[in-house]
Amino acid sequence: MGLEHQGFTIWFTGLSGAGKTTVSRLVEKELRARGCKVEVLDGDVVRENLSKGLGFSKEDRDTNIRRIGFVCELLARNDVVAIAAAISPYRAIRDENRARVGGRFVEVYCSAPIDVLAERDVKGLYRKALRGEIKHFTGVDDPYEPPLNPEVVIASDKETPEESAAKVIAKLEKLGYIK
Ligand code: ADX
Repeated sequence: MGLEHQGFTIWFTGLSGAGKTTVSRLVEKELRARGCKVEVLDGDVVRENLSKGLGFSKEDRDTNIRRIGFVCELLARNDVVAIAAAISPYRAIRDENRARVGGRFVEVYCSAPIDVLAERDVKGLYRKALRGEIKHFTGVDDPYEPPLNPEVVIASDKETPEESAAKVIAKLEKLGYIK
């Protein structure tokens, strides 16, 4: 079997509103166009299904992220490109998932200054968090641990989603995961 048919995991991490969903969907589209089988596990969707009932304590977030990692492992070993897009604030659990999928793990750090995200506030959640109406909101009164060595860093305040997606695709080519 050629390398181009082997699965791997692309893991988008970053604050709410930093572009994880948007860029992951563009990457999904490009990979499909190149003949890959792809599945996206998006935090908001996973929390309505696989992780329904979980909240935002450290314990619940860790459970959510481990579940997503488990599904990525199942998909990737069946030659599917698994794309995760979740805040995944804790470095140790992301690294646990990296180890679990056997190293074929491309971490994409979606970096964006919190003031830009709070200003943009697409879901209106930063406003609520800053007013104290939502507690333990990541980046406001809950931690986010950025990756120390991400394969790709994208910046939604400096790049278009298309430019960010192109950076991810270029990295996958460089790693030899796609042609
Ligand atoms: S994670 O921490 O477990 O990785 P996940 O990506 O699944 O989070 O879900 C984050 C989404 O849940 C946010 O985009 C936002 O819409 C919503 N949300 C609700 N409450 C919180 C909170 N306290 N912290 C972060 N996101 C929250």
